[in-house]
Amino acid sequence: MDKMGYQPNLQRAVTTVQQARTAILPTITPDWRQQLPTLVGARVTLRELKLSDAPALLATMTAEEVARFISTPPDTIDGFERFIQWAQREREYGRYACFAVIPHGMTHPIGLFQLRQLASGFTTAEWGFAIASAFWGGGYFVDAARMVVDFAIDTVGVTRLEARSAVANGRGNGALRKLGAVQEGVLRRAFRKDGRQLDQALWSILAADWRQAKAVWRPEIVH
Ligand SMILES: CC(C)(COP(=O)(O)OP(=O)(O)OC[C@H]1O[C@@H](n2cnc3c(N)ncnc32)[C@H](O)[C@@H]1OP(=O)(O)O)[C@@H](O)C(=O)NCCC(=O)NCCS
Repeated sequence: MDKMGYQPNLQRAVTTVQQARTAILPTITPDWRQQLPTLVGARVTLRELKLSDAPALLATMTAEEVARFISTPPDTIDGFERFIQWAQREREYGRYACFAVIPHGMTHPIGLFQLRQLASGFTTAEWGFAIASAFWGGGYFVDAARMVVDFAIDTVGVTRLEARSAVANGRGNGALRKLGAVQEGVLRRAFRKDGRQLDQALWSILAADWRQAKAVWRPEIVH
């Protein structure tokens, strides 16, 4: 620390550069590792998890129809609070991000989107998601999913985004197909759930394909 003494000349130079940058870019986006951005779509807002989300997440994620094909979630409020703290630490390390899904007009989350790196540098990543069944089929998934994929590709730098979904999970696979993900194969007996070993479909979205697809669907979102 003693080599890091205050250097007024250097400080003036830094300030001048910062002023020039501010003049060009009035809004400097903070690093996602410090704080996730709040993303606003047509139907939902995505934001960082808060400890106060724990009761709503417990109710949503532990419902039988939601939990059926996903890793077993915590089963207490305390367990979800610990998960939220873990998620924030992992985000600070730069290897994971988790968004709460809040429909417009509501304050508590109806679901989650998770993104984790599969290789250091976050170029290859995996995502997963769950939404309360009362909101299935309402367009909430696609609205949120498009923002998460944009975030992964444009902000985090993901070039290949994978998803694994139990073959028996018709809705999960239908949602990924609808989004434009490509099914690459089946991972046999890859997912252990409630004492059973389930086959999983491996899906991917490539950044280049996503950018091309966006040129087609983006106007729909705007209107
Ligand atoms: C996955 C999930 C977030 C998707 O949200 P959703 O609102 O249900 O998704 P959508 O309704 O927009 O899309 C699902 C698509 O699958 C289709 N689908 C439903 N059941 C299906 C089945 N058995 N076989 C094939 N497709 C099916 C739907 O018709 C729909 O397509 P459409 O809009 O073209 O008609 C939500 O279902 C969920 O939270 N499921 C529980 C958690 C989970 O399984 N997560 C996925 C882990 S990879």
